[in-house]
Amino acid sequence: MGWTKKHIISIKDFSREEIDFVLRKSSEMEKKLNSGRASSLMRGRILATLFFEPSTRTRMSFETAMKRLGGKTVGFPFSEISSEAKGETIADTVRVVEGYADVIVIRHPVEGSARLASEYVDIPLINGGDGANQHPTQTLLDLYTIKKKFGKIDGLDIAIVGDLKYGRTVHSLTNALANYDVKLRFISPQELKMPRHMVKDLEGNKIPVKETRKLNLDDADVIYATRIQKERFPDPQEYERVKGAYVIDLKTIEGLKKSAILMHPLPRVGEISPKVDGTKFAHYFEQSKNGIPVRMALLCLVCGVKF
Ligand code: CP
Repeated sequence: MGWTKKHIISIKDFSREEIDFVLRKSSEMEKKLNSGRASSLMRGRILATLFFEPSTRTRMSFETAMKRLGGKTVGFPFSEISSEAKGETIADTVRVVEGYADVIVIRHPVEGSARLASEYVDIPLINGGDGANQHPTQTLLDLYTIKKKFGKIDGLDIAIVGDLKYGRTVHSLTNALANYDVKLRFISPQELKMPRHMVKDLEGNKIPVKETRKLNLDDADVIYATRIQKERFPDPQEYERVKGAYVIDLKTIEGLKKSAILMHPLPRVGEISPKVDGTKFAHYFEQSKNGIPVRMALLCLVCGVKF
């Protein structure tokens, strides 16, 4: 794959070799970051952040990544003050922003919007989340976190818990894990099961998959909890029926494997008790911090900056 000017739209566009390459480069970048040798790699370049949905981590970690590389960022604090509010199309917005910046990260509630936007620009465009579809850079930092802890991804037993229907982070993560020799356990309410086509794809790749409603975490190496995505439910009553379906608390973690890690893309709204934060299982804040070297590496790769 040529990385320079590559759009990062879906993790399905990546082979296993390409994912492993990004993880290796992220590790190199983390060393450079910690030794102060990354601070001018992107000097003179500008990242545009186009966020049409709320974000704390994705937007701020991309901004931090760019600034740690010596670059600058532009963007609007709320989508309501962008000209989308006057009816401007995504296509026009990104064509204009291409004249201002060297790389774009976009988040939008409509599935497929990042792919569409990428068709209108020559500068690299990164999907920071499109509706319930994909969140590829989250997946890369998730895999980076797993690899940092276990030194591998193959051979792990991974439980994914919560909203598997609307959660874009779990869709991307599942697509990526289909490249590895893992066991997967999907734990969700009946109404929020993983889409059938994704389960079929895994079966096609000979990945063992168990689907259950019970929060059975025995033998899991990685527990990846997610928020029920209230904003994606067409019917608020359906949300009321499933909210609070799973809470991981001190009692739940008593039964975990000693080496297990508990991950969450965040924000959490009750899925993991704060009492768990001080335990050795809690990896979600480190996971979020890992977004910095991973996004620094990606920004350099797509901008053709060697490191
Ligand atoms: N994990 C994640 O995408 O968080 P934000 O919505 O805060 O960006």
